[in-house]
Amino acid sequence: MLEVDVRGALPDPLLAGLSEFVALRIGLHFPPERWRDIERGITAAARELGFPDVETCARALLSAPLTQAQLEVLASHLTVGETYFFREKKSFEALEEHILPELLRARRGAERRLRIWSAGCCTGEEPYSVAMLLDRLIPDAEAWNITILATDINPRFLRKAAEGAYGEWSFRDAPGWIRERYFKARRDGRFELDPRIRKRVTFFHLNLADDVYPSLSSNTNAMDVILCRNVLMYFTAERTQRVAANFHRSLVGGGWLIVSPAETSNALFSPFSAVQFPGAVLYRKAGGAAPQLAAFEHLPPAPRILFPPEPAAPQAELPQETVAVEPGAAPPRTPDDAGELARIARVCANEGRLGEASEWCEKAIAADRLNPAHYYLLATIRHEQGQVDAAAQSLARALYLDADFALAHFALGNLRLSQGRRREAERHFTNALVVLRARAQDEVLPESDGLTAGRLAEIIASVLASQPRATA
Ligand SMILES: C[S@@+](CC[C@H](N)C(=O)[O-])C[C@H]1O[C@@H](n2cnc3c(N)ncnc32)[C@H](O)[C@@H]1O
Repeated sequence: MLEVDVRGALPDPLLAGLSEFVALRIGLHFPPERWRDIERGITAAARELGFPDVETCARALLSAPLTQAQLEVLASHLTVGETYFFREKKSFEALEEHILPELLRARRGAERRLRIWSAGCCTGEEPYSVAMLLDRLIPDAEAWNITILATDINPRFLRKAAEGAYGEWSFRDAPGWIRERYFKARRDGRFELDPRIRKRVTFFHLNLADDVYPSLSSNTNAMDVILCRNVLMYFTAERTQRVAANFHRSLVGGGWLIVSPAETSNALFSPFSAVQFPGAVLYRKAGGAAPQLAAFEHLPPAPRILFPPEPAAPQAELPQETVAVEPGAAPPRTPDDAGELARIARVCANEGRLGEASEWCEKAIAADRLNPAHYYLLATIRHEQGQVDAAAQSLARALYLDADFALAHFALGNLRLSQGRRREAERHFTNALVVLRARAQDEVLPESDGLTAGRLAEIIASVLASQPRATA
């Protein structure tokens, strides 16, 4: 194949503009010493995007709004897709020996739920490693409601991840039993993951630099553990701080953020406490159950100089006293009161208190039966509780009351997809797209935590693109 010489094809001012643009839209950091890398990536993207040469492509990127498809092509040529099973063993050991057992102990007697997010999951080795670990740790997995969410900016990676077939190289640092127990050798030399484990992970397109999270609608709320490893090291410091602040809000009190050893920084992750495990420093959000990790050293908090104060999430504005209202109290009767009850339900849901959240939400519905938003909220809560049929019913009810409720169509599409009902899922996604096309691109959708109509249409296009191609 012809090697393209990328040395010095683009003038420095253009490279400076490109690096600023890429930092803004994807979060990636390309200082002057890495301008040759950005040039190389854009040269490859130019070919794929159909531009005659790199300079025309570069100028086009800077002068016109980028479509989501163009952004994803660009991201795929600028990001690093390196990953393997049980990468950075020490972090997995901390998970296996300390963090997960502590969480399982705390939840065993109450709500048996566990929520883990692999952000920047690449081709799936990281979230599937977590799924295999949990399979070993939880013999009665069917009695638990376990969410393993895996997101990435690159739909090609997501498609490969959803297929669950891997070459030798993905096992380069994994213990031998992993392949024996969970994979089947195929004729083409690849190894196919046990569908039981594959189905435990939900893949979703999400740009960490752009998208709104935490959000009930992308299921990025109330997480117990977030793994974001070997992603933020490529981001600008400013973007890393913003992502860390969002992760902080996405976690429940006492939740954990796991970055790679090369990314640990008390300054960048200052809203968290750093906890030292053998060979790994992990970050913990304050609150939640008292930690049982006395054996490990809590590092002193970093000075909060670099970190901007966390903006208060709308839900968090609710005073604690309001949340503490007895769930057994008589339901109020007016739609205004219903709004307040729904707000309390959201606070509880965001904090992972799902039982309470559903009680408050039922009260909101009792007070205002014709508001589709309450049924949508109840559906997201039921879904998180693992009550898929009840969630589908609530979504159907929301759509009965408002056929143009784009997020409800989208949620029902995702729900059917998770059940393997692809045709139905596609029908719901198409319905959502029809509704979205009738709206202004920048219109913020109701109940969406800030998601615009244009962005949801792009997300749906990515979800459809990240599905494995039909074989028959
Ligand atoms: C080096 S891989 C890390 C994979 C895995 N976390 C691990 O440690 O093995 C980096 C991943 O981050 C993803 N990524 C880069 N920028 C991103 C962004 N703005 N939003 C979401 N994912 C991003 C890339 O597509 C790539 O899959």
